[in-house]
Amino acid sequence: MKAFLDLAELGPAGVADLLALASRLERRPEPRALEGKILALLFFNPSLRTLASFQAGMARLGGSSFVISPGQGTWILETRDGAVMDGAAAEHVREAIPVLAGYADALGIRSFAGGADLAADLADSTFRSMAGVCPVPLINMESAVDHPCQALGDWKTLDDLGIPARGGKFVLSWAWHPKPLPLAVPAAAVHMAALRGMDVTVLRPEGFGLPEPILERAKLAAAMSGGSVRETADRREALAGAHVIYAKSWTAPIHYGDAAAEAAFRAGLRDWCVGEDWFSTAAPDCRFMHCLPVRRNVVVKDEVLDGPRSVVVHEARNRMWAQMAVLHRLLKEVEP
Ligand code: CP
Repeated sequence: MKAFLDLAELGPAGVADLLALASRLERRPEPRALEGKILALLFFNPSLRTLASFQAGMARLGGSSFVISPGQGTWILETRDGAVMDGAAAEHVREAIPVLAGYADALGIRSFAGGADLAADLADSTFRSMAGVCPVPLINMESAVDHPCQALGDWKTLDDLGIPARGGKFVLSWAWHPKPLPLAVPAAAVHMAALRGMDVTVLRPEGFGLPEPILERAKLAAAMSGGSVRETADRREALAGAHVIYAKSWTAPIHYGDAAAEAAFRAGLRDWCVGEDWFSTAAPDCRFMHCLPVRRNVVVKDEVLDGPRSVVVHEARNRMWAQMAVLHRLLKEVEP
């Protein structure tokens, strides 16, 4: 493996191989596997899980890591190609990324959506541009429209819990949130579940349908794996028989880049907060998933998050095992 950018590049067999390694590392530690290896972590946006799980995972494998958060003790970095750099940014990623790569054996980058231009964000243009100047194995730690590390950990969680792949019913539900949030996690979640062969329903209010390229990519994955993808605004019908409700908020594509219009558009939708009543027609052991961080009693009620359906901490723990498998595949020297 030369990079970890997208589950689609691995396909179902590649994901199965990585998750077998993740489970092996969970059962049988390899504290010297990456001895002497260094991971650089470049965070343009905040994190709790991604930052901590990569550092912990690298340490558990005998390697080390360092973190750069531009503007917090380091120079503010410019990401725009062709920018006239007479503002706050003192350095361009075109220099900074090769410099960091010179100190490390692999690089992880987190760079969220700009949130102003839907087409540019759907094209993942900022992340792709940075990938183009990275000379070492690169890991996508969440870009504008993908979060493959979250998707890999979530796939492991579904496997750990014995949730069916073929015939398994996965509902990604939109939830109300005070801010317009990016499309990366919903895009990654529907793609992951479809690639796993599940029947995926995107439940959302009218006007919050996922952009066509995101749905098309998930449908392509479903076609490869025997699953299906559909969207609906009918909550009762969507949740009937569900094995998983995965909650996440995302911005309304029709008001992308216009926070005031988007806020007005979602104003009447505060009842999109997952409560125990949502599970009345779901499978009896239906699970609740969320990537975290989550706002209690806004996105999901305490009664669900604190109850037996919630697997959010299990998901977060699996981020580490899944990413350790990625690091192992990227950096472990193969015996001659
Ligand atoms: N789920 C996730 O990526 O969490 P962080 O934003 O805390 O890294």
